[in-house]
Amino acid sequence: MKDKILELLLSTDGYLSGEAISKRFGVTRAAVWKWMDQLRREDGVELESHPRQGYKLKERPDLLLPALIREKGSGRFFEAIDHLSIVDSTNNYLKQLAREGAGEVRVAVAEEQNGGKGRLGRGWVSVRSKGVFVSILLRPQLPPALAGNITMMAALAGAKAVGRLGFDAKIKWPNDIVVEGKKICGILTEMSANMDAMEWAVLGMGFNVNQMKEDWPEDLLDKASSLRMLGGGRKVERTALLAALLTEMDGLYTKLEAGAFGEILEEYRKHSATLGKRVRVIDSKGEYTADAVDLDEEGALVVRTLEGEVHKVLAADVSVRGLMGYV
Ligand code: BTN
Repeated sequence: MKDKILELLLSTDGYLSGEAISKRFGVTRAAVWKWMDQLRREDGVELESHPRQGYKLKERPDLLLPALIREKGSGRFFEAIDHLSIVDSTNNYLKQLAREGAGEVRVAVAEEQNGGKGRLGRGWVSVRSKGVFVSILLRPQLPPALAGNITMMAALAGAKAVGRLGFDAKIKWPNDIVVEGKKICGILTEMSANMDAMEWAVLGMGFNVNQMKEDWPEDLLDKASSLRMLGGGRKVERTALLAALLTEMDGLYTKLEAGAFGEILEEYRKHSATLGKRVRVIDSKGEYTADAVDLDEEGALVVRTLEGEVHKVLAADVSVRGLMGYV
C-alpha cells in the first residue's frame, strides 16, 4: 500500500489530500496518516504536509523504492521487490525468506547494510544510499555443481547494466565487475542444495555507485572505485542501474533456465577483462604465472603456464590477479 501511495504522489503535481487518498484506496484517514508516517520515517521520503491541502513530495526521492524502479522497467524481476531502509545483509534477509518457502523471483534491496558480507568471509562497506545493495532469490533447476554458472550470469547481467549507463564495464573472472581496471561490483552467491538439485540460490550484488573517496577505507581505493568517481563526479541514478540489472537478468536467466549457458558464455567472453592477460594463479598448492587463454564450456578458466602446460582453473579454488595490478 505504501508503494501505491507513493506511486500516486509521484504522478501528482500539487498537493494530494488525505481524503482523496483514503477514498482512492478505501482506507481511513488514520491509515493514510500511518502510511505517510512510515514513508517519512522508515523510507526517508521527504514529504510536505499541509493541514488543508494534504501531502506532496518535497522532491523526487533518491531511494531505491519499488515504485521508482518500476517506472524504468518491467518483467518478472520487477514484481516482488522488498525495499529495506536498513538491514544486516540483503543476502541474510532473502536466505531467511527462502527457508520459509518464498518462491522465486524475490528481490531485496537495501539503502544501508550494517553487516554487509563479501566473499571469503570479508565484509562489504555499505554506506547509506550511496550504492546498490541487492539480492535476488532464485530456485534454478540446476545441479549444485553448476552454481558458478549463476554467478557468471549475474556478472554478465551487471556488466551489461553498467554498460547501459554509458560505462565500459568488463568482468574480471570469475565475477567482479570492473571499469577502467577498478572494481565497481562484487557478487556473493549463497545456496542450499541436496545431492542432485539446488534448492535455492541467493545472488547478492553490491554496486559502487555514488560513493566518493571519503566513503571508503583508504586501502580499498587502489582496487575499487565508484561509477560517480569514474564518471568525473557526476551523480548516477541508482534506480536506472537497478532497473537495467533486473532487465538484463531476466533475459539471461531465461537462457540459463533453457540450458543455453553456452550463449551466456559467448557474451561473457566478449566482456572479459581476464582473457588474453597474463595472470597470477593462487591456489591451495601454491602460485604460478600463466596466460588466460579461454573459458571452457562450464565457465572454468583455461590457462597456459609459462612452461606450456594447460590447466583448468575452477573459480572456487583460486584467486587470479593481473600482473600489473588488480585486473
Ligand atoms: C565480493 O566480495 O566481491 C562480494 C560482495 C557482495 C556484496 C553484496 S551487497 C548485497 C549483498 N548483501 C551482502 O551482504 N552481500 C551482497
